[in-house]
Amino acid sequence: MAEIIGAITTSHVPAIGRAIARDLQQQPYWKPFFDSFPPVRAWLAEKRPDVAVVIYNDHGLNFFLDKMPTFSVGAAASYSGADEGWGLPVGLPFPGDQDLSWHLVESLMQEEFDIATCQEMLVDHALTLPMKLLWPDAEKQGAWPVTIVPVCINTVQFPLPTAARCYRLGQAIGRAISSWNADRRVVVVGTGGLSHQLDGERAGFINKRFDEQFMHSLAADPEWATRFTINQLVEKVGTQGVELLMWLAARGTLSGEVRELHSGYHIPISNTAAGLMLFEPAPASTALSMA
Ligand code: DHB
Ligand code: FE
Repeated sequence: MAEIIGAITTSHVPAIGRAIARDLQQQPYWKPFFDSFPPVRAWLAEKRPDVAVVIYNDHGLNFFLDKMPTFSVGAAASYSGADEGWGLPVGLPFPGDQDLSWHLVESLMQEEFDIATCQEMLVDHALTLPMKLLWPDAEKQGAWPVTIVPVCINTVQFPLPTAARCYRLGQAIGRAISSWNADRRVVVVGTGGLSHQLDGERAGFINKRFDEQFMHSLAADPEWATRFTINQLVEKVGTQGVELLMWLAARGTLSGEVRELHSGYHIPISNTAAGLMLFEPAPASTALSMA
């Protein structure tokens, strides 16, 4: 059976793509942000996952306001980026993992998550930039080291799924991966957040205190954030800050005790509080002794 080796959560601001394209990682503005990634890259290099399930939100590239599925899963052989208007280069396409895609689709439907299945899917900055941040040499080397399955959660057009529903989706994704009859190591990546608001009177709004509470809760009490309604979350973290739902879903894929191996937080990247976390399942012995 497949094994979930861990979950990584990260922000996905388009300006990061520009910094990568122009090699600005060591500039004072960018250095604190990029400096957070080497420990997570080292963990990936050591653990060598075969597949990444990437939970993210599309911002109008693959889905537009005319058709907006709440939850969707990619089932394509390959996924490409495209010009989103940010002036970023379109990188190397990502190889899909259709076997896991269809297993995920079947399992989620069985668990009464009525998802859209996408046999063609463009992936936007919310998927492409975290991949570049986690595997910065892959495109130079001409191949991504993992196959991917994109899972998309609507956080763009209201009504949005509740935090509790997103957490339960993550739990169902976790069960699906663990029941996948394949000798594969799977890493789950959740992208978005943390607090930010790009538009309106509160443009530029950031809530460090809430972000820190949320990051803290993910390790020991991941259901903490499920107590908030979507409107409360918008109030606390901004209209686009609700992208933290992807972090919640990614964390939900890990059942039992977890170990927090890395946590980084930096304000601002563009208009956003940028965060990075890495969790792995606690070894069985630790989980037993803590029970
Ligand atoms: C920004 C943040 C996002 O999450 C996004 O999707 C686009 C832009 C920003 O802060 O600039
Ligand atoms: Fe976003």
